[in-house]
Amino acid sequence: MNIIVTESYEETCREAAGQMIAAIQANPQACLGLATGGTAQGVYPYLIQAYHQQTVSFKDVKTVNLDEYIGLKPDHPQSYRRYMDNHFFDHVDVSPLNTYVPSGCHMLQQEMAIFAGILDVWKRDIQLLGVGINGHIGFNEPGEVLHARVHMAELAEATIKANARFFASEEDVPKTAITMGVGDILHAGKIVVIATGSQKAGALQKLLNDDEVTTRMPCTLLKLHRDVTVILDRELAQQVGYNRPVS
Ligand code: F6R
Repeated sequence: MNIIVTESYEETCREAAGQMIAAIQANPQACLGLATGGTAQGVYPYLIQAYHQQTVSFKDVKTVNLDEYIGLKPDHPQSYRRYMDNHFFDHVDVSPLNTYVPSGCHMLQQEMAIFAGILDVWKRDIQLLGVGINGHIGFNEPGEVLHARVHMAELAEATIKANARFFASEEDVPKTAITMGVGDILHAGKIVVIATGSQKAGALQKLLNDDEVTTRMPCTLLKLHRDVTVILDRELAQQVGYNRPVS
C-alpha cells in the first residue's frame, strides 16, 4: 500500500486528481471509478481545471460511480447522479453516454444487472474511494458478511447520521442504496483512497496501522489489493499515529 501524507485536504484532492489525470494520459480511453460525498467533492475542481488547461480531455473517457441512493430520482438535489452532473460532468467534455451512475428509483433488479454488466465491460483503470466513519467503502457497511458484487445495501445508523448533513433532516436520508460490492471495488486496476477529518481516524487506523482484514471494517479489505494509494493530510495521519515523512 502506498501512503501519501499531504499538508492539507486541498493537497490531498490535488494529488488524487493528479493520479486520475495520469491514468487518462496513459490511456485516453481510461475508465474512471468515481465517488461522491464530501471528501471526493474537492477532487473534481482539479479535474475540471486540468480540462480547461487542456492537460486532459474526457472525450473518450468512461466513468462509473460507486453507488446511488434508492428512492431518489436522478434530478433529486441529493442524488449522486445530480452530484456528478453538478460537480463534474457538466463542466468537462465527457459524453453523457460514457457516464454511468446507477439509478435508484425504478426496476432495481434490472438496474443492478445493468450495473454489474457495465462493471464487467468497462474495466476501471482507477477507482477513487472515500471511507465512511465506520470504515464503509461504497455502501458496503460493516457486518458479519460483505457482498462481492453489486447489491442493495442498508445504510448503517452511523452513515445515515453522517449523511444527514446533506439533507433537511435525518429522516430524509434514504435508508438503502445500490452499491458496487467489495469485489467490484477490488477489481479496479488501481485504487486511490482519500480521507480527511478526525472522524475518519478509527477507520484509517485499521487500514494503515493494523494487519487485520475484517468485514467489521470494510476498508480493511483494501489490503488485499496490490495497487492501493491512501492519501491523507498530516493532521489525520498524526491522529492515526501514522508519522512517516511526507513522500
Ligand atoms: C460515496 C461513497 C461513500 C463515501 C463515504 C465518505 O459515493 O461511496 O462511501 O465515500 O461515505 O463520505 P464523506 O466523504 O462525505 O465523508
